[in-house]
Amino acid sequence: MPCRTIAVANQKGGTGKTATTLSLGIALAHRGKRVLLVDTDPQGDLTKSLGWADPDSLETTIANHLGAVIEGEGTDPREGILSHKEGIDLMPANIELAGMEMPVLMAMSREQLLNVWVSPLKGDYDFILFDCAPTLGIIPVNAFVASDSVLIPVSVEYLPASAMVGLLNTIGRVRRQINPTLSVEGILLTLFDSRNNLAHEVEQTIRDQYGSAYRVFDTVIPRAVSAAEAPSVGASIFAYDGRGKVASAFERLAEEVVCRG
Ligand SMILES: Nc1ncnc2c1ncn2[C@@H]1O[C@H](COP(=O)(O)OP(=O)(O)OP(=O)(O)O)[C@@H](O)[C@H]1O
Ligand SMILES: [Mg+2]
Repeated sequence: MPCRTIAVANQKGGTGKTATTLSLGIALAHRGKRVLLVDTDPQGDLTKSLGWADPDSLETTIANHLGAVIEGEGTDPREGILSHKEGIDLMPANIELAGMEMPVLMAMSREQLLNVWVSPLKGDYDFILFDCAPTLGIIPVNAFVASDSVLIPVSVEYLPASAMVGLLNTIGRVRRQINPTLSVEGILLTLFDSRNNLAHEVEQTIRDQYGSAYRVFDTVIPRAVSAAEAPSVGASIFAYDGRGKVASAFERLAEEVVCRG
């Protein structure tokens, strides 16, 4: 099976990108898939959520690899990949990535750097997922160039605002100018609380507005206290509350993602 690379992105903050990257990644590993997660957010939330509590102490992160690509150094792209006990690999990130923004912007082929780094790794994995920061800057654009598709987590706690328009425009621009095969993997509704009327309203609006042009996943990720607690103790939702509704929702999401393949 050829490797599928997916960017998990939305420039709106707090929509569940990091939780989705982590939990979908582990659910894919439960299905026997070889999975690499790539943290591309200088906050290092994905890295922390997987238990590396102090990302700034890590010697090699994605920032080093971007630097090596810019300098044309022939370093091993696998250097610094961490393996997690739940069966996935992680390329971590830390605050050093924030300092790479300018060198990346100044580099030759500045949109291709992540792609250059990740391409040789595709033979080792069935899925590579990029957790994007909440911006439409040059690093998320690099993730779109390196990806087959973009998975868009959308919180049902807010009426879908212009954020989606900006994101879909950026995806369209990348497709037209650089990566013609880039697609939208799907829109994922997150932080769903069935007692909240707005949540039902937002779900319906998204399905009505976007459902004909894009896949809106049948699976909706519920809001749960356990899912809010898990990252702070560095545990996945499967380790923290494996029988809960959030864990089972991500198992269903993995099924939807695999089935499309
Ligand atoms: N299913 C859930 N139920 C309850 N809380 C959740 C759930 N998923 C994520 N959270 C919490 O909501 C917050 C935002 O989630 P997350 O960090 O995954 O979003 P994000 O889109 O990656 O944010 P950012 O834009 O800052 O990168 C976090 O505090 C997280 O712990
Ligand atoms: Mg995040």
